[in-house]
Amino acid sequence: MRSTFAAAAVLASSASAQLYPDQSPYNHTCELQTPLLSCPPQNPSLVDSCCVETFGGLLLSTQFWSTYTGGESESQLLPQDTWTLHGLWPDFCNGSYTQYCDLTRQYDPIPSPNTTTGKPDGVPVPAYNGSNIGTFLEPFGKYDLLEYMDNFWIAQNQDNPGFWGHEFSKHATCYSTFNVACYGPQYRKHEEVVDFFETAIRYYKRFPTFAWLKDADITPSNSTTYSYADIRDPLVKQHGGLPFIGCTGPRFNTTAAGKNSTDNGYTVLSEVWYYEYAYGRPQDMRTIPTDASATYFTNCAKAEGAIHYPERTNGSVRVPTIPF
Ligand SMILES: *[C@@H]1O[C@H](CO)[C@@H](O)[C@H](O)[C@H]1NC(C)=O
Ligand SMILES: *[C@@H]1O[C@H](CO)[C@@H](O)[C@H](O)[C@H]1NC(C)=O
Ligand SMILES: *[C@@H]1O[C@H](CO)[C@@H](O)[C@H](O)[C@H]1NC(C)=O
Ligand SMILES: *[C@@H]1O[C@H](CO)[C@@H](O)[C@H](O)[C@H]1NC(C)=O
Ligand SMILES: *[C@@H]1O[C@H](CO)[C@@H](O)[C@H](O)[C@H]1NC(C)=O
Ligand SMILES: *[C@@H]1O[C@H](CO)[C@@H](O)[C@H](O)[C@H]1NC(C)=O
Ligand SMILES: *[C@@H]1O[C@H](CO)[C@@H](O)[C@H](O)[C@H]1NC(C)=O
Ligand SMILES: *[C@@H]1O[C@H](CO)[C@@H](O)[C@H](O)[C@H]1NC(C)=O
Repeated sequence: MRSTFAAAAVLASSASAQLYPDQSPYNHTCELQTPLLSCPPQNPSLVDSCCVETFGGLLLSTQFWSTYTGGESESQLLPQDTWTLHGLWPDFCNGSYTQYCDLTRQYDPIPSPNTTTGKPDGVPVPAYNGSNIGTFLEPFGKYDLLEYMDNFWIAQNQDNPGFWGHEFSKHATCYSTFNVACYGPQYRKHEEVVDFFETAIRYYKRFPTFAWLKDADITPSNSTTYSYADIRDPLVKQHGGLPFIGCTGPRFNTTAAGKNSTDNGYTVLSEVWYYEYAYGRPQDMRTIPTDASATYFTNCAKAEGAIHYPERTNGSVRVPTIPF
């Protein structure tokens, strides 16, 4: 899932099994190469696109804050005192993005949008009805990874594995560096899925949003409100770049507190997206922080005390069974 506010630019989909066929004349021994920076975009005919993110070089490590999952009766619960992992997205360097880049790796049971462009004339993205993507980890024996994801990579109003399939197929198939060709002749089916999940978690663990806010005395409360700057400043200080801060809920000027205000930003804190560029493969974590778009860095209200950071619903939270 991602918010519908961001601009979308979508590449024409090819009939080929890969988004970027014949992407590189090299054989992907990344250790032999100088790690190039992912933005500005690299020329795919001049670089090994398995060794530097060549198209979607603006990485967004995204997290959610929500108060319930909707799957409580199936024990789908939120991790106590921790924001949940949403995804790791490869935006273009100019901030737009593409999606569902390889329909041969379509594991999303509820494609959203349901065509590659989001418009009726786009290529249809068929709903996936096979074994959920979580089962792909089993032949690799990655039960610890699965347990971690079950604790921290949490969907709302959908089962977790369906959501992981969505994140993989909508976003991860658009990376040059997670392309199947990058794994060489010894490629094992779904290896890049495991690699992507592990990589998304590596970024997530670097950005402990709950703790960063708590250190600045910003904690969930159903009796206090906060200002946009209260939330932004500690995150900028800790991360080094200005993250996108997303809100849902009513617009401020439709609430009692915002009556007569011209501020029509949203009032319930719900998302943070950390922006990074990577030297070499995103998997290798040699990144530098950067700022969210100057024209779209928040949709939250900016009026003093306009933002709620809600406590979670009783019964929707558990102590994680595995450390963050
Ligand atoms: C890449 O691999 C192919 C097939 O194994 C080989 O013929 C070619 O020389 C290799 N290219 C480089 C740059 O190593
Ligand atoms: C952003 O970059 C992508 C990839 O290079 C390109 O396809 C798209 O047209 C660009 N969008 C804008 C708004 O410049
Ligand atoms: C996509 O969803 C829209 C709206 O629900 C629907 O009208 C359309 O038929 C769907 N397209 C495909 C290709 O499934
Ligand atoms: C499952 O999806 C495949 C491929 O899209 C389709 O051919 C098949 O009919 C679907 N099966 C069911 C039970 O929906
Ligand atoms: C909004 O404007 C009305 C009319 O000017 C005023 O009576 C009211 O106190 C204002 N409300 C707030 C919350 O400022
Ligand atoms: C809220 O503000 C927006 C733009 O500032 C305005 O278009 C809208 O009519 C306002 N709504 C209310 C209920 O005041
Ligand atoms: C706090 O408020 C939110 C939304 O207003 C509600 O869903 C949640 O259950 C509340 N939490 C507690 C602990 O009361
Ligand atoms: C949630 O639990 C806390 C502590 O157990 C209690 O004080 C509070 O009233 C509960 N909130 C709701 C909405 O039930």
